Amino acid sequence: MRITLSVIKADIGGFVGHSGVHPEVLEKVKEIGLAEVEKGNLIDCQVLVCGDDIALVMTHQHGVDSELVHGIAWKAFEEGTKISKKLKLYGAGQDLLSDTFSGNVKGMGPGVAEMEFEERPSEPVIVFFADKTAPSAWSLPLYEMFADPMVCAGLVIDPKMHDGFTFEVLDTYTGKAVKLSTPAELYDLLALIGSVERYAVKSVWRNSDGEIAAVASTQRLSLIAGKYVGKDDPVMIVRAQSGFPAVGEILEPFARPWIVEGWMRGSHNGPIMPVSFKQATPTRFDGPPRVIAAGYQIAQGKLIGPRDLFDDPAFDRAREQAQTIADILRRQGIFEPHRLPSEEMEYTTLPKILKKLEGRFYDLEEGKKAPTGEEHHTETD
Ligand code: F6R
Ligand code: MG
Ligand code: MG
Repeated sequence: MRITLSVIKADIGGFVGHSGVHPEVLEKVKEIGLAEVEKGNLIDCQVLVCGDDIALVMTHQHGVDSELVHGIAWKAFEEGTKISKKLKLYGAGQDLLSDTFSGNVKGMGPGVAEMEFEERPSEPVIVFFADKTAPSAWSLPLYEMFADPMVCAGLVIDPKMHDGFTFEVLDTYTGKAVKLSTPAELYDLLALIGSVERYAVKSVWRNSDGEIAAVASTQRLSLIAGKYVGKDDPVMIVRAQSGFPAVGEILEPFARPWIVEGWMRGSHNGPIMPVSFKQATPTRFDGPPRVIAAGYQIAQGKLIGPRDLFDDPAFDRAREQAQTIADILRRQGIFEPHRLPSEEMEYTTLPKILKKLEGRFYDLEEGKKAPTGEEHHTETD
């Protein structure tokens, strides 16, 4: 049976501030999705929450980029937005950048990760969902899952994985993509994806038979809207077991936190913290960035699950380490490298400040006079 798994997410209003989702909004989004299951348009539908974002996890047979399925997500988010507006939730409807749906949610605000495959005799998948960060946050763990044998033992041990995986990398500035096959082109891959502000892994394919292994959302809201409208809080789907990394190999990169862009005002570097569904409520300095992992078995397209995979003491140390990193970075206050370089900040007052001070900058070279009122700075030496 060929099925498509579509995960479409949006921030349609925060409760409170940007820290969480209101239960009534979630209920409405879920209700719209389930009505489409009743109608037979979807095989199954669930909702996930991470921070102030809601994801619809949908299975169906309409393929990727389906107008019907994207339309369902759009309608669910529109209806949820009505509740957000009624309750005056924060940033109600912030990720719906258009008043009308035009066939595909891509470029309209919501983030999308979807893949079509032949359902295997047993089909374990993991849906990752992060808040207060950007799609390039997935690049490091995807590299470790699919190209680093020190993290994923199966690359060496499982004959089906031994030929490696191909990474499709998106240049978020130009919209162009390139495919790089690992292990042969590993260093080329790392040369690109190490530049997290520009490149992000879009999908991963198994070399031995071209099967799809992973897909990430790569929409950059700031590039779509041309102004700050929130971070791009990404989702990702990864297939597990029998020729793909084991569930534990997929989760292993998250056992050591790393530093991602996002956090407060989308303008800071911070540790990504793997958390249970219940703990996915970023509050300290609007963070630190969170990630949840929802495990499903898919059976005839039905979503069996989710299992809350980071709800495990084995990830306690990662959470503790993330807190330590957070303390160290917070010590920097507004100074880089905690604060992002000005061109990477989601919103900045720097141009306005520079404009205001325009006439007050003077040359420190000898003999050149400062503007009126500032003479003492140059005349004394
Ligand atoms: C970051 C985020 C928050 C907000 C911050 C300020 O992705 O959502 O950290 O940027 O709370 O929000 P505004 O500007 O809406 O007051
Ligand atoms: Mg928000
Ligand atoms: Mg968010």
